[in-house]
Amino acid sequence: MTVGLPDPLGRPGPPPGRSAVLAGLGAYVPPDMVTNADLVARLDTSDEWIRSRTGISTRHVVAPGTATSDLAVEAGRRALKSADDSQVDAVVLATTTPDHPCPATAPAVAARLGLGGVAAFDVSAVCTGFLYGLATASGLIASGVAQRVLLIAADAFTTIIDPEDRGTAVIFADGAGAVVLRAGHAHEPGAVGPIVLGSDGDLSELIAVPAGGSRQRSSPEAPKPGDQYFQMAGRATYRHAVERMTEASLQAVGAAGWFPGQIDRFAAHQANGRILEAVAERIGIEPERRLSNIERVGNTGAASIPLLLSQASQRGELTAGQRVLLTAFGGGLAWGAATLTWPDLVG
Ligand code: UT7
Repeated sequence: MTVGLPDPLGRPGPPPGRSAVLAGLGAYVPPDMVTNADLVARLDTSDEWIRSRTGISTRHVVAPGTATSDLAVEAGRRALKSADDSQVDAVVLATTTPDHPCPATAPAVAARLGLGGVAAFDVSAVCTGFLYGLATASGLIASGVAQRVLLIAADAFTTIIDPEDRGTAVIFADGAGAVVLRAGHAHEPGAVGPIVLGSDGDLSELIAVPAGGSRQRSSPEAPKPGDQYFQMAGRATYRHAVERMTEASLQAVGAAGWFPGQIDRFAAHQANGRILEAVAERIGIEPERRLSNIERVGNTGAASIPLLLSQASQRGELTAGQRVLLTAFGGGLAWGAATLTWPDLVG
């Protein structure tokens, strides 16, 4: 699926050229930090293994009692502040770790931000949640349903991680990022370009929390030990992540009418440092053009891309007019890519 391209059948649609434009950006990580040394003290692992296989040194984690909405509210508040206008018509929250199985977390986040009354709902696409949320928010704007949307991507990922599972406990972490999108023109700075999305449900068991949903709850059998936790077939996931992010990235870049050599900044979901290198190399993006914060924040699930954009913009690594490529991959399987011209914005 590609959003932002002309309809091939020429069907009537929203006003021509109406696009979602990035108008605000913010992020938040909880203050508590876990170092590789902390993990080495309680798991059969080593600093060398974690750094060389994942590129991660530290990660932020929620304190007991902190939920996804607490991270989302803080990131959302910062994005609204950076947009200089707190009016929005909708709140979209991309998360893997909603506060409760029911209801969605977005309405509570909207209410706590003083936005109660606006449309608010969750999007569930695990680590690709931000890009699925971006397509959803862009669609709300392009169709005229909303003028301004607050898109938040937040995960308290460590709440579903088995603390004893060295294969996932060293990678996943907590955080939130948010953007404000407004209606604008397709050719102005900040306009969201083509978005490419895909999925492969035949491989859904590669990344899953087996228990806690209707499949398990309707079963007379008790869940197996560990089924309440996130489970990932790391090696297979790695291979699909590289293939799918590369393919989606090249499709999005082509749909934007760009060449890989014209991409100024590559902002990929921070899944694993080696995956990011492999994808960037295949697309042909040198290290100077790659944004990365995985060493300090780990893999923060849906939050990863907006958290990266926010921290990079604060460090001056994103400047107005730059061509930016976003890509992500995760459970579902689900993946995606999008292009964007960076606006005059620091968030
Ligand atoms: O964000 C959403 C999508 N997720 C991803 O993209 C993650 C994709 N996968 C990965 O990042 C990597 O596959 C991992 C970092 C999870 C694992 O790295 P790997 O090089 O693929 O290792 P592996 O899973 O093939 O395991 C190799 C060995 C195994 O030992 P044996 O069976 O060869 O004796 C593991 O038990 O490494 C072992 N291992 C560890 N050793 C030390 C796994 N985790 C650890 C650990 N410390 N933390």
